[in-house]
Amino acid sequence: MDFSLTEEQKLLKEMVREFAEREIAPYVDNWEREHLFPREVFRKLGELGILGMTTEPAYGGTKSDYLSFILALEELSRFSASVALTVSVHSSLFIKAIQEYGREEQKKKYLPRAAKGEILGAFSLSEPGAGSDAANLLTKARKEGNVFVINGIKSWVTTGSEADALILFAVTSGEKEKKRISAFIVDRDSPGLQILKIEEKMGFNSSPTAQIAFEECRIPTENLLGEEGRGMAIALKLLDGSRIGIAAQAVGLAQTALELGIRYAKEREAFGQKIASFEAIQFMLADGATLVEAARLLTYRAASLVDHNLPYTKEAAMAKLFATEAANKIAYIALQIHGGYGYSREYPIERLYREARVTTIYEGTSEIQRLVIARQLIREAEGLIS
Ligand code: CAA
Repeated sequence: MDFSLTEEQKLLKEMVREFAEREIAPYVDNWEREHLFPREVFRKLGELGILGMTTEPAYGGTKSDYLSFILALEELSRFSASVALTVSVHSSLFIKAIQEYGREEQKKKYLPRAAKGEILGAFSLSEPGAGSDAANLLTKARKEGNVFVINGIKSWVTTGSEADALILFAVTSGEKEKKRISAFIVDRDSPGLQILKIEEKMGFNSSPTAQIAFEECRIPTENLLGEEGRGMAIALKLLDGSRIGIAAQAVGLAQTALELGIRYAKEREAFGQKIASFEAIQFMLADGATLVEAARLLTYRAASLVDHNLPYTKEAAMAKLFATEAANKIAYIALQIHGGYGYSREYPIERLYREARVTTIYEGTSEIQRLVIARQLIREAEGLIS
């Protein structure tokens, strides 16, 4: 088994790191403190080709293998998990939805601008009463001539207030178990769409999370994405891929947390010595480094299954589960090493600790990842999938 990266992948990592050191690192604390969304950074990431890594060249993209895209997300997340999140949702949920399920006119309309960062996209599945139980959503889309009329409330929409368009999931027919959900592309300026509120969160302040109301919101029938009634399968398939992106985000964040812990341990003195010389600290660092490496390998493995056209639902869930739980443990360890200073806003580990917390929640909680893994294990045992 070859664990090495190709020359192109190494160059890509270097390019993203240089970009992030220049365009993100000096500003990230201010963005977070002031709740600023760095729109300009996404335009530049578009120019650099990073936003187009899931878009075919025929539609203006720089389509790469999935592992390369994952490496770019990991690298961005080392500097800002918020920026990595926006890129992940835009590229692996919004763009991929249209790239994989869109009709030709939809691809031509949205993909070239999305790949260049001229427009940003969001993904709107969750509702106030439907998070883990995503199929329990209540938003309805009824057909009237050549429009769909949408009514309902969507919540936890990443980039929701800034995105120019979003992938929306709504019930098009049936009740309860018989209900059929469909996917749509909805432009932000559609009449009847209103941003209700931007959530006040524990972290990720430079990634706005919106609650959006749809009241008699009319969109053309041609904005239906994929087959009518197949929306839930589309949502879950897309989430399989994007969960690998969240795993990569967790790996990047965890790597930085670990490095902050090492740096502090080498600087801080106690009892007449650098605290890095104490075994208690060394063991924490060793555990953290082992966790981050294991998380990275699971993440790269899941991405490589995508690249080899092999099933990856279970492996994506394993990567997401392990990497996000590991990021929380590592952020905890690194903050503990900082002692009282770790709890102060003066040190960046405090922000990373808060950011790590949500990674085990969004794009499917750790409990949902376990459920997905177990379902696949049982299906494999029954010989339904190989
Ligand atoms: N790939 C393709 N299709 C799939 C699939 C997969 N991995 N898993 C299920 N499906 C299909 C099923 O075959 C079924 O198709 P039919 O309608 O034709 O029968 C359909 O999708 C529904 O599947 P289930 O009956 O298995 O669905 P369920 O209601 O039992 O739920 C679940 C399964 C795993 C709990 C799922 O609801 C889930 O993953 N929940 C978590 C939701 C989630 O991750 N939300 C994140 C919100 S987005 C977000 O956070 C983004 C952001 O902005 C940060």
